[in-house]
Amino acid sequence: MSAYNNTQYQAVDNYSNVLQQNKAQNRRSKWIVIGSILGVVALIAVGVGVGVSVSKHNKSSPKSAAVSNSGSNSSGVVPQTDPNDPSTFVKNPALKQSFYGLAYTPYGSQLPTCNNSLADVIVDIQLLSQLTKRIRLYGADCNQSALVLEAIKQTKVDMKVFLGNYPVPSDGGVAYVRQRDLIKAALQTYGADHVAGVTVGNEFILNYLGDNGGTSQDPNSAVGNAGAALLLSNITDTISMLSGMGLNIPVGNADAGSYFNTQILSAVKYGMANVHPWFAQTTIQDAAGWTADFFATTNVAAANALSNKPTMYIAETGWPTKSSSVAAESNGAALASVPNLQIFLDTFVCQANQNGTGYFFFEYFDEQWKDVQFGGVEGWWGLFNADRTLKKVTIPDCAAP
Ligand SMILES: *[C@@H]1O[C@H](CO)[C@@H](O)[C@H](O)[C@H]1NC(C)=O
Ligand SMILES: *[C@@H]1O[C@H](CO)[C@@H](O)[C@H](O)[C@H]1NC(C)=O
Ligand SMILES: *[C@@H]1O[C@H](CO)[C@@H](O)[C@H](O)[C@H]1NC(C)=O
Ligand SMILES: *[C@@H]1O[C@H](CO)[C@@H](O)[C@H](O)[C@H]1NC(C)=O
Ligand SMILES: *[C@@H]1O[C@H](CO)[C@@H](O)[C@H](O)[C@H]1NC(C)=O
Repeated sequence: MSAYNNTQYQAVDNYSNVLQQNKAQNRRSKWIVIGSILGVVALIAVGVGVGVSVSKHNKSSPKSAAVSNSGSNSSGVVPQTDPNDPSTFVKNPALKQSFYGLAYTPYGSQLPTCNNSLADVIVDIQLLSQLTKRIRLYGADCNQSALVLEAIKQTKVDMKVFLGNYPVPSDGGVAYVRQRDLIKAALQTYGADHVAGVTVGNEFILNYLGDNGGTSQDPNSAVGNAGAALLLSNITDTISMLSGMGLNIPVGNADAGSYFNTQILSAVKYGMANVHPWFAQTTIQDAAGWTADFFATTNVAAANALSNKPTMYIAETGWPTKSSSVAAESNGAALASVPNLQIFLDTFVCQANQNGTGYFFFEYFDEQWKDVQFGGVEGWWGLFNADRTLKKVTIPDCAAP
């Protein structure tokens, strides 16, 4: 699942980037668990079909109107004893710092609109910091790295962020360089005290294989290695940028759990793997166990076989609470509902903490732009609703590391 970002751009280039990412996102959902499921070829066909139809839809109506706009106005959601001091926010006893980490994309951080705001991000950080000490971003466009670091500064919370750079395989490096420079500027302003890492690449190999792979879905195929060579140049460039700034910040990569290329994993300090029981079509009862098993046998095992032994995290895991279409309400044995999110919270969070697993729960709040673009369950994975009210769940109570 992705975040689209951007700032300065040429309308045409940028628009096609967004379309690219749209297609990629749809494919991701379908491909995430390939290797453990049947019907691979059929799924690919569906994924590509959906991507194409999304693109066409977007082309014919670039500004699909009448989108109600919950999620933007955060004022009054978190009380402050001093309205002018964001660090005086009042804690909500329903929230517990039980999560290792959370996946977060600030509202309005997608091109071409870029209508995020520091006020919104401050409220998000006030809420997120009551659940976790770590968040991860997906990209850097729309100044989101600086906004998050500024919000951490103003709220004075104990929070580290994995910044993200979301390169586009086919754009000649435009998205990569644009985001690199935003990350650099944010680090120059805020330093590295609250930065846990810089993640270069989100589902890059998954997308690259989808665009170029034909029938091969092996991340270590010749096509996978060609994609890896592109991304490796970005990873190397970020490593040298950081060392040139005198900063010792780990550089990592995020991809779908089945899509780690060995050359990439050999070049990074950490890997973040999307591991989604929903897309594996498990029952909710099996979801937590499936996630733990997949991550251990696929991702941790692969990393431990390498001499650099990158640290592995679960980049995304979670459960959707509803679908915008009846057809997508279930996926095999997986059924979208708030009670099922509760079961996943109850069976995954404290157990993963206990097991020493680093994970980023997916995700902070419902993202309406995803619902508009993709429909189905895509917009409904939040712990919070789009208006930043907590869904009808009980947050597990166990201190995360
Ligand atoms: C942000 O931009 C999106 C996309 O154009 C729009 O739907 C939404 O209403 C805007 N939100 C705000 C708060 O301006
Ligand atoms: C945001 O919400 C607050 C409280 O609900 C309301 O007073 C304010 O007018 C809203 N602001 C905008 C710009 O919608
Ligand atoms: C980015 O955000 C920071 C923090 O709010 C702000 O100081 C800076 O001016 C912003 N830069 C741009 C280009 O918006
Ligand atoms: C970053 O990767 C892109 C492909 O995604 C490539 O075209 C570009 O040359 C790379 N840029 C740098 C500076 O490494
Ligand atoms: C935790 O570890 C136990 C024992 O290996 C395993 O059965 C369980 O699935 C794991 N759960 C999570 C959420 O990591």
